[in-house]
Amino acid sequence: MSRNLSMIRDVDQHKDGTVTIGCWLHNKRSSGKIQFLQLRDGSGFIQAVVVKSEVPEEVWEAAGKLTQESSLYVTGTVREDTRSKSGYELTVTGIEIIQVPTDYPITPKEHGVDYLMDHRHLWIRSPRQRAILVIRAQIIRAIQQFFDERGFHLVDPPILTPSSCEGTTNLFHTKYFDEDAFLTQSGQLYMEAAAMALGRVYSFGPTFRAEKSKTRRHLIEFWMIEPEMAFVTHEENLEVQEQFVSHIVQSVLENCGKELEVLERDTSKLRNIQAPFPRITYDEAIQFLKANGHEIEWGEDFGAPHETAIAEKYDKPVFITHYPTEIKAFYMKPDPNRPEVVLCADMIAPEGYGEIIGGSQRIDDPDLMEERFTEHQLSKEAYQWYLDLRKYGSVPHSGFGLGLERTVAWICGLDHVRETIPFPRLLYRLYP
Ligand code: 4AD
Ligand code: MG
Repeated sequence: MSRNLSMIRDVDQHKDGTVTIGCWLHNKRSSGKIQFLQLRDGSGFIQAVVVKSEVPEEVWEAAGKLTQESSLYVTGTVREDTRSKSGYELTVTGIEIIQVPTDYPITPKEHGVDYLMDHRHLWIRSPRQRAILVIRAQIIRAIQQFFDERGFHLVDPPILTPSSCEGTTNLFHTKYFDEDAFLTQSGQLYMEAAAMALGRVYSFGPTFRAEKSKTRRHLIEFWMIEPEMAFVTHEENLEVQEQFVSHIVQSVLENCGKELEVLERDTSKLRNIQAPFPRITYDEAIQFLKANGHEIEWGEDFGAPHETAIAEKYDKPVFITHYPTEIKAFYMKPDPNRPEVVLCADMIAPEGYGEIIGGSQRIDDPDLMEERFTEHQLSKEAYQWYLDLRKYGSVPHSGFGLGLERTVAWICGLDHVRETIPFPRLLYRLYP
């Protein structure tokens, strides 16, 4: 039987009309002669009212049987209701039950995080988790829109790779028939090849890091967006990044007002996120940290507390530029005026969310690249194809990687990245 179903988010188009929706019971309360059903269908939430004196006996009884997460078809009249959050209410005329479950494991009472993570497949139905996943989807939409409107082509780098991009300490190893292979840490090296073929490109894919760190910012499997641009230098690279991040934030504000409200996100902090973003050098950051009681020396990398201390000075994301060559990846281009630092930047999100972007101008000189390979003890055999890019029509080029989950955590105002991805892969968690 085919039903002409409506979605909850579209009920405003059926004011005073009759609709049928396929839905689940989120919650229920009763006052003897009236039952209030909180319904959800994925597109939204709506309250449905069943009045005993106005419906056939079997409809009243069906409503009485419903338990949390019962699946059903509800038919009713759409009433405007200024008191309800959605602005509309459903006056029920018919109920057709699909399933009435018992003992749904997630009740409105508080559960511990481990318990919720074990039930992640059900937890995502909750209004809060739904809101996060809707915002994540909007962020993805905004990212694609940004690049597609600016002449970038989407390119997919491989997931299984013969060599590393971001160092060898956190590689996931697997067998590739008789060879060794690794799950990709970053598509960057391949995106550099793609930029030489298509000019401006971006990738959007899963990346893997066997990080033994258990922090609120680290996932084992996370999604990265990696643009790479031929003929673009360090300075322009930063301009693309600040426009990109502003676009994402403004797009979420425009399209996800309800979801941000569910999360009780302070949106005034987000409204402010408009390019340009402040920039400080690594040297200035070190000076500031030292002056504020942190024990750190030039040449050391920043930890989370350092990033937070720096970010707290600003109400926008801040770029930290020109890190010491020693502590950054082999492919970053040294500053021609000061080769002990590289033309790179990390973008640190406000409100303590840490680094959301890492990027740089890349070495384009073939001799220097060869030197770096020797210094970093990288196999010229394994990377011959990458060295080819510097041999055949090398040009200045730059790119960056945005971590999707950290961006979602920041925009949603979440304590931990585990809630930013449908099924998080964490240290000690592979289920469900
Ligand atoms: O700074 P990263 O390691 O940079 C790269 O991989 C470059 N190859 C990118 C490029 O230039 N194309 O990672 C980029 C971003 C970080 O800023 C962070 O947002 C995110 O990826 N990230 C993680 N997110 C969640 N869990 C982890 N374990 C992450 N590691 C990095
Ligand atoms: Mg980084």
